[in-house]
Amino acid sequence: MAKRSVSSKQQREQLLRAARRVTKNAYAPYSNFRVAAAILTSKGETFAGCNVENASYGMTNCTERTAIFSAIAAAGPKLEIRAVAVVNAQGVPCSPCGACRQVIYGFDPDAVVFFPDTGGWKEAHITELLPEGFRLK
Ligand code: THU
Repeated sequence: MAKRSVSSKQQREQLLRAARRVTKNAYAPYSNFRVAAAILTSKGETFAGCNVENASYGMTNCTERTAIFSAIAAAGPKLEIRAVAVVNAQGVPCSPCGACRQVIYGFDPDAVVFFPDTGGWKEAHITELLPEGFRLK
């Protein structure tokens, strides 16, 4: 089966803009690394999120999961993620962590992820980032 890609430049720019808008909302007093993400759903809706840190570092919620959980809270549990865009205030390379890859995969094993890489942007299919993701089926 052909793997999906972020179909249009316009769609990608729209997602990046939505993510950039919330970078300033990140709560990152411990790392000072402000990250934001936006997801595009199968219904064409966009939801954004940012990282939310905690003094107990392990309780930190990454930006990708914040965006996904916000989408569920706003639109309900039938979420299908077509694409995810990640940005950060520093403009440095930043791909989703392993936990977020698994959460993205859980909502669509055909999702596309767009993130800053060395010298530019990278678009990767979620199964490239997370081969053999876990599914309870
Ligand atoms: N972080 C994210 O929110 N998303 C990523 O893709 C990588 C890392 C956050 C977690 C933490 O608040 C900060 O970046 C530094 O690790």
